[in-house]
Amino acid sequence: RWAHSPVAALSGLNTVTEEDLAHFSKILPSSAILSTLTPSATPPAELEPFNNDWMNKYHGRSTTVLKPRTTQEVSEIVKWCNQRRIGIVPQGGNTGLVGGSVPVRDELILSLANMSKIRSFDDVSGILVADAGCILQSLSDFLVSHHHIVPLDLGAKGSCQIGGNVSTNAGGLRLLRYGSLHGTVLGLEVVLPDGTILDQLTSLRKDNTGYDLKQLFIGAEGTLGVVTGVSILAAPAPQASNNVMLALPKFENVLPLFKETKRQLSEILSAFEFMDRTVYDLAVKHGQGRALDPADVEGADCFVLVETSGGKREHDEEKLNSLLESLMEADEPLINTGVLATSPAQFSALWAIREGLTEAVSKEGKAYKYDISVPLHKFKEVVDRTKEQLRQKGLLHDDAVKHVVGYGHVGDGNLHLNVVAAAYTPEIEAALEPFVYELVASYKGSISAEHGIGVMKTHALQYSKSPTSIEWMKKIKALFDPNGIMNPGKVLP
Ligand code: FAD
Ligand code: MLT
Ligand code: ZN
Repeated sequence: RWAHSPVAALSGLNTVTEEDLAHFSKILPSSAILSTLTPSATPPAELEPFNNDWMNKYHGRSTTVLKPRTTQEVSEIVKWCNQRRIGIVPQGGNTGLVGGSVPVRDELILSLANMSKIRSFDDVSGILVADAGCILQSLSDFLVSHHHIVPLDLGAKGSCQIGGNVSTNAGGLRLLRYGSLHGTVLGLEVVLPDGTILDQLTSLRKDNTGYDLKQLFIGAEGTLGVVTGVSILAAPAPQASNNVMLALPKFENVLPLFKETKRQLSEILSAFEFMDRTVYDLAVKHGQGRALDPADVEGADCFVLVETSGGKREHDEEKLNSLLESLMEADEPLINTGVLATSPAQFSALWAIREGLTEAVSKEGKAYKYDISVPLHKFKEVVDRTKEQLRQKGLLHDDAVKHVVGYGHVGDGNLHLNVVAAAYTPEIEAALEPFVYELVASYKGSISAEHGIGVMKTHALQYSKSPTSIEWMKKIKALFDPNGIMNPGKVLP
């Protein structure tokens, strides 16, 4: 087990000392240094939000959080840490779901929260350049008056930062329409593990000048450097957006429905999000969005939220209405009902149900979250087989596992399998792992569709990556970070 222990990655690394703090106080004002080691020591409780992750599942014991304001300050801090062999955990909004954003032991936390300036926006090209610490929601708000949108949206938008989004290669709710950050991020500014500033913050749509280094940092989860600036292609704001919540009598209808929806809505389809009945009920129980009328929910086995975004309201509404009519009038209808938003408030309320699922699940209990890519027709099988596994182990009851639920981004083949337990226990974990990973591998899927590897899945990387891939990932890590200071214990086994 030691070989797989993330703590092993910290051997040879030093912890922060008073001498280090004296150096940091030459770089940063005292307000940007939180440390239990300073003469005017920060109370440990103030460090808690930085040491514990969003799920309260992963816990670090860092004594020191630094909050630089500029790329130059980041560079000086990282350079010192490299010379002194101090582990660094870059931290954005700390909304990550795989334990990547908190220390495994007592590494220094480098928070990007004070780097939140928008550097430029060009409303002809749509290119936005921003500090890595900008909160996603604040970028969206900024773009409203410029008639553009960020090509990324997710339930954590009020807290997550664009640098964190890039570092996790977050997928989210708009990937179906706008693609992944590997396409929409045009440039990055990164502080490398030796403190060098790599300025690749270009604003060019096209740039075929050899290796595209920035791609390495998209999804690197802070293991190769600290992202300090992001250049991203914003999309023109749609002139009209509509959504409808469809209630389905059985899961088997999801795929034919997706096919038919794509066929009829074609270029205006912008989201196709799935949730099973159990997780919908949890959302309602925990006050996410507004519950649908009981008549609309009756007999529903699962739901799909469809969104359209287009250039002309009448045209889009006509298409959506004719889709609904054809679905309802078919000899064997694929849906029971469809609840169409008729006002901006209703539009937001329907999205709030979907975006609130993560919070609902975490209010219900302790969630084991498996974020997987599997063939669409296997979504239900994965949930059912996981339930069966837990039942066989005698763990499917209120004192152990309360619910096994599925939701996710059908359009992207990404299922969120969530096992909601009364507590995190070794018995439940042993029943789920490697069971879930083996199941995913048997479908040739991915053990991490969009949340990343973090500390949670380092030992499971082999289920989705070949030994050759892992070997070359390790070589890349060693090349950039020979002293292993950047987010030790994360991503690589
Ligand atoms: P953090 O959690 O702070 O960090 C995440 C990782 O990135 C860590 O490894 C950290 O070290 C590293 N990192 C952060 N900032 C930097 C930086 N500037 N430079 C280098 N490394 C850095 N994810 C999805 O993909 N799709 C979703 O739909 C989605 N929805 C979510 C909904 C909720 C309610 C929550 C809580 C999470 C959701 N997530 C989703 C997971 C999460 O990956 C995203 O919230 C987000 O991308 C993380 O950004 P953050 O700023 O909070 O990063
Ligand atoms: C989502 O799609 O809601 C996010 O990825 C978060 C989650 O999996 O709970
Ligand atoms: Zn997701």
